[in-house]
Amino acid sequence: MRIKVLSLFPGIVRGFFESSIMAKAVDRGLMSYELVDIRDFATDKHHKADDQVFGGGAGMLMLPAPLSRALEAAGSPGVRTVYVTPSGRLFNQAYARELAAEKELVIVCGRYEGIDQRVIDSYVTDEISIGDYVLSSGEVAALVIVDAIYRLVPEVISGESLNEESFGSGGEQALLEYPQYTRPADYASMRVPEVLISGHHAKIARWRLRASLEKTLAFRPELLAVSGLPDEVRKLLNEIVAEGRNHEPDTDDPGTPDALRSRGV
Ligand code: ADE
Repeated sequence: MRIKVLSLFPGIVRGFFESSIMAKAVDRGLMSYELVDIRDFATDKHHKADDQVFGGGAGMLMLPAPLSRALEAAGSPGVRTVYVTPSGRLFNQAYARELAAEKELVIVCGRYEGIDQRVIDSYVTDEISIGDYVLSSGEVAALVIVDAIYRLVPEVISGESLNEESFGSGGEQALLEYPQYTRPADYASMRVPEVLISGHHAKIARWRLRASLEKTLAFRPELLAVSGLPDEVRKLLNEIVAEGRNHEPDTDDPGTPDALRSRGV
């Protein structure tokens, strides 16, 4: 996969591409990249890249002409072109998988109040937000997206690691990943759960499923609201909720047959 990132501050992005797993993927020829400094496409002597917003209001907008020239030079027409913006479609693992299937991506990082709508209309295929908060730097959001995508490119990391993690399965259902431990088994007076060193694979799998369900219920109960949970998983979930109830006798929930409802599930 080839990724081109257009930015007014490419230095923010460079370290990511030159380090760690990404650097190895580039060395192995699985990934390639180009960082484009939008300011290089400004033609005036001050390399002006932004101006005030028509209609008034605070902040500056990136100028359409230098950015359009940068997009043309990056070969954006005909290539999936992402603009990272808090007003975009919300990014998630399914979206990452979709983009990971592309051979080439162009990513535009916004600064200031963002970019001129005419540039979006002419070049951008995907306006993406990484979450409901505002960053000062589109570069950081772009890197979040790049990181989520490139690790899904075949051979960049092992398929096994992908399958076992939160949101990794590729199916509709997603549970948060269970807690994990490494040596030593005793650390700072805390012991690893015995089952994990028992060598009993079926019991370990059940412990992990239960831990995943507990964690998902605590942090992201809405993920459990999807239909199609296998019966034995739903049964386990109901057991967990019922146990939680017993530990919280003062709950004013009347205890519906599907105990999940009280947790917003
Ligand atoms: N730029 C600033 N905030 C952002 C966000 N939440 N997502 C994507 N790009 C952004």
